[in-house]
Amino acid sequence: MTALTQTFTEQRVAVMGGSSGIGEATAARFAADGAEVVVTGRDQGRLDAAIERIGGKTTAYRMDATDPDAIAAFFAQSGPIDHLVIAVSGAAGSGAFAELDLDRLAAGFEGKFWPQIRILQAALPRLNTNGSATLITAASARAAFPGTAGLAAINGAVQAMVPPLAVELAPLRINAVAPGVIDTPWWDALPAEERRTLFDGLAATTPAGRVGRPEEVAGAVHMLAANGFITGVVIDCTGGANLPTGR
Ligand SMILES: NC(=O)c1ccc[n+]([C@@H]2O[C@H](COP(=O)([O-])OP(=O)(O)OC[C@H]3O[C@@H](n4cnc5c(N)ncnc54)[C@H](OP(=O)(O)O)[C@@H]3O)[C@@H](O)[C@H]2O)c1
Repeated sequence: MTALTQTFTEQRVAVMGGSSGIGEATAARFAADGAEVVVTGRDQGRLDAAIERIGGKTTAYRMDATDPDAIAAFFAQSGPIDHLVIAVSGAAGSGAFAELDLDRLAAGFEGKFWPQIRILQAALPRLNTNGSATLITAASARAAFPGTAGLAAINGAVQAMVPPLAVELAPLRINAVAPGVIDTPWWDALPAEERRTLFDGLAATTPAGRVGRPEEVAGAVHMLAANGFITGVVIDCTGGANLPTGR
């Protein structure tokens, strides 16, 4: 009988956007399970600090995920990969729709949609067909939060590809995790006081009573990679924040 879930010893995991936040926590989760992990990001200092924190058999590779040549160069030297996680962030694309700067929205697609698609396509020749790819999208893709139509478009476009890809690329498993608000350095652009006020307000309307931790999203990614019978799904990791209230 085959094992119900995979272990990660002697498995190779690539976490794209793994030098911070959700990607770093995910890399740490796999590394703690004995996987050989490579994390990518644009900044060498952040990468070096991250692999120091993550420990285990973790290495770093500096690359800009918006650059198709850099993506190709990464996979040209990566060797085989059992599990791929794409946690590259893109910040642009939010705001009230009436005033939404469409160039900023296009930049949002450039920063998140295209890297996810380009990375996954370029990774295919390297990916173990018994392995998995997990995309990180966002709860905004399936919610109705004012000011997030642009983010819904970007993340919804990524999520829409998950079921057809799971069928087309089988037996490789394709899944996604859609986080709600997670306390990561992504929010550092906001002054600390503003961030705290925002998080407190969100906590009050979230069934879990708080915003999320990157380790909680990492746990969802880990489960999807480990369970060989789950493919084509998008898992919400939101503390219930995006549940329909019937308002
Ligand atoms: N935090 C949240 O509340 C939240 C909610 C919903 C969805 N998400 C999604 O979760 C994912 C991870 O977000 P996070 O909160 O963990 O963000 P984060 O802490 O800012 O981490 C983002 C990671 O991606 C890397 N990165 C960003 N742009 C890159 C590029 N062009 N090329 C290569 N690497 C790049 C960053 O490193 P460098 O900057 O050094 O390149 C870093 O390692 C994103 O897709 C985000 O949209 C986050």
